[in-house]
Amino acid sequence: MPYKLLFVCLGNICRSPAAENIMNHLIQQTEWKGRILCDSAGTSGYHIGSPPDRRMSIAAAQKLGIRLHGRARQFQASDFQDFDLILAMDRENYRDILFADPSGQYHHKVRLMCEFCSCHTLEEVPDPYYGGAEGFHQVIDLLVDACEGLLKYVISLQTFLPEQSHGV
Ligand code: 4NP
Repeated sequence: MPYKLLFVCLGNICRSPAAENIMNHLIQQTEWKGRILCDSAGTSGYHIGSPPDRRMSIAAAQKLGIRLHGRARQFQASDFQDFDLILAMDRENYRDILFADPSGQYHHKVRLMCEFCSCHTLEEVPDPYYGGAEGFHQVIDLLVDACEGLLKYVISLQTFLPEQSHGV
């Protein structure tokens, strides 16, 4: 079974699609491609069906040479069952995700993205939507750091490795 990651922000057009595509870019360079799957969603429905924000796409292209794929969708309760780990970009996203799980049975699957940073000390990925280009560049830097840490963490779990890799 692949290990499934869901990145969540407010609109699903800036931070979470960037996180999804950066993570896919990192996974592609490893032997784990096809075994770690990524998706993203927004806690709001403001931008359902929209492609990633052009400013985020420009920053990703300039800094990493990657294109951002995907269309915005809203987070839904079934995501708790469908994903192994849900990464919230900021505390408001984190609270909104937990609010959708009143019983608390899936709280253990929800983490803040910046927990996985090792170079940056910010605890949240700032919302760049109403700011300038430098905010989008900062988001890319933060997400590369967090995604590198997240990839190491997921690989360390080894729950999705094929049988022969367990050294039997
Ligand atoms: P995101 O950024 O949550 O990183 O996708 C935003 C996108 C849209 C809005 C706010 C933040 N908005 O208010 O429409």
